[in-house]
Amino acid sequence: PRNAYRAPDGVVRIAGVDVRELARTYGTPLFVIDEADFKSRCAEYAEAFDDPALVHYASKAFLCTEIARWVAAQGLSLDICSGGELAIAQRADFPPERITFHGNNKSTAELEAAVEAGVGTIVLDSFFEIARLSDVAARHGITQKVLVRVTVGVEAHTHEFIATAHEDQKFGFSLAAGNAAEAVRRVLNAPSLELVGLHSHIGSQIFDADGFEVAARRVIGLIAELAKEHGDELVQQLSTVDLGGGFGIAYTDRDNPPPPAQMITQIREIVRKECEFAGLPVPRIAGEPGRAIAGPGTVTLYEVGTVKDVALGDDAVRRYVSVDGGMSDNIRTALYDAAYDCRLVSRASDDGQPQQVGAALSRVVGKHCESGDIVVRDCWLPDTLAPGDLLAVAATGAYCYSMASNYNRQPRPAVVAVRNGSARLLLRRETNEDMLRLEVS
Ligand code: LLP
Repeated sequence: PRNAYRAPDGVVRIAGVDVRELARTYGTPLFVIDEADFKSRCAEYAEAFDDPALVHYASKAFLCTEIARWVAAQGLSLDICSGGELAIAQRADFPPERITFHGNNKSTAELEAAVEAGVGTIVLDSFFEIARLSDVAARHGITQKVLVRVTVGVEAHTHEFIATAHEDQKFGFSLAAGNAAEAVRRVLNAPSLELVGLHSHIGSQIFDADGFEVAARRVIGLIAELAKEHGDELVQQLSTVDLGGGFGIAYTDRDNPPPPAQMITQIREIVRKECEFAGLPVPRIAGEPGRAIAGPGTVTLYEVGTVKDVALGDDAVRRYVSVDGGMSDNIRTALYDAAYDCRLVSRASDDGQPQQVGAALSRVVGKHCESGDIVVRDCWLPDTLAPGDLLAVAATGAYCYSMASNYNRQPRPAVVAVRNGSARLLLRRETNEDMLRLEVS
C-alpha cells in the first residue's frame, strides 16, 4: 500500500493505523485496504484513458458495496460478470448505465436482471447469446446496447489459465474464423440490439504493451473489413473499442510493471495511427483494469501459529511458518504458482533481506489439510519469529477475497478499509453459523 510505513518501534502502520490494533479489533486473517491507495489508482487510470467513464473497474478482482461506491464516486464504469456482482452494484446504487456485463455463459435470468436494471452495455460472447439477449430485450421492449467480444488470437505471455485471446479457449468470437464478422451481421439484424463497439481482452498480469497493440491492430482491421461490407454508417456506430484489462502489478521487489499512463498512451497512439492509416474515425478506447486498481493497496494480516524447521539433508533446513489462513483466502500461490512477499509487521525486523544474520529462509503455509497450501513459497523472515507475531502479505487486493472459499470449512476473513488513522469494517468475518445456515436437513 502507498500509505504503509514502519514506525521507529518497528510496527507497521497503514494509513496511520497500527496493524496490531487492527488484528486485536478485527481478528486475523484480515484483509486491510488502504482506501486512498485504491482511489488514487482509479484516478491514475481515469487520467490515462482521458475519461473516467472509459475505465471499467473489473469487479471480479474484488467487489463489495463500499468498493462499488468508491468506483462510482470516482466516475469510473464497472465491469461485472455475474448476477451476484450485479446485485452488489445495485446495492451500492451504482449508475446502471455505467455497467458493462461480461461472461461466456450468462443465464437468461442474469440477462433479464441486467436488462431490468438498465445495465448500459452487455458484451456478447456467443451466437446463442445473441439470440437469447435479442429475445430478452424484445420482451422487455427495449433496445440493448451491446459490444461483440472478439478473439484476436494473441498469445499473451502470462499463465495459461489467465490468458484469454489465443484461439483455443472459450471466450469470444474468433476473428480468424470469421465468427466475429458473422456476430456483427447477426446483431445488426436484431432490432432489439444496438451495436456500439467491439471488445477484446487478451489476458492478465501483462507487463508490456505489445499484446495490446496487436489486439488493437486486429480489431481496427476488423472494423475496416466491416466498413467495406456495411458502409460508413456502421463505422460511426462502432464508437468504442474496449481492450479489456490485464495491466500487471508488482507482487514482489522483482516485478517492475510500467506505470499505467505509459502503457495506455502507447496503445492509444497505435490506435490513432492505425485508424488514420485506414481512413477510419478514431474510436474511444476503453479498458477494464481490475488487479491494477485493487491489488497493490491491500495486505493480508496473518498471525503466526507455529514455526517448524524441517531438515532437507546436507544440513539444509526449511522453516515452515504456519499462519491462521491459507489457500482459502489466497489460492493464487497454489493455483498459479504466484509469487508473494511478506514481512513481520508487529515488531522491529530486518526481514526481507536475503542471507542477513538472523534471517531464516522460510515458507509461509496455511492451516489447510494439504501440503500445497502455501501462501509465500520463499521469503526471509527473522530467526526469532514466534507464535503471536503478525505477518503481512503484500498485494492481496485482487483475486484473493474474490476467489476465497470455505475449504476445510474455514470461515472467510473480514475486510477493513483504513484511511487517515481510522479503520472501517467493510465485510465482517464469516462465522460457523453463517455456514450452518445453508444446512437444511
Ligand atoms: N476484463 C475481462 C473481460 C476479464 O476477463 C478480466 C479478467 C479483466 C477485465 C480484468 O483483468 P485484470 O486487469 O484484473 O488483470 N484469477 C486470476 C485472474 C483472472 C482474470 C480473469 N479476467 C488471477 O488471480 O490472476
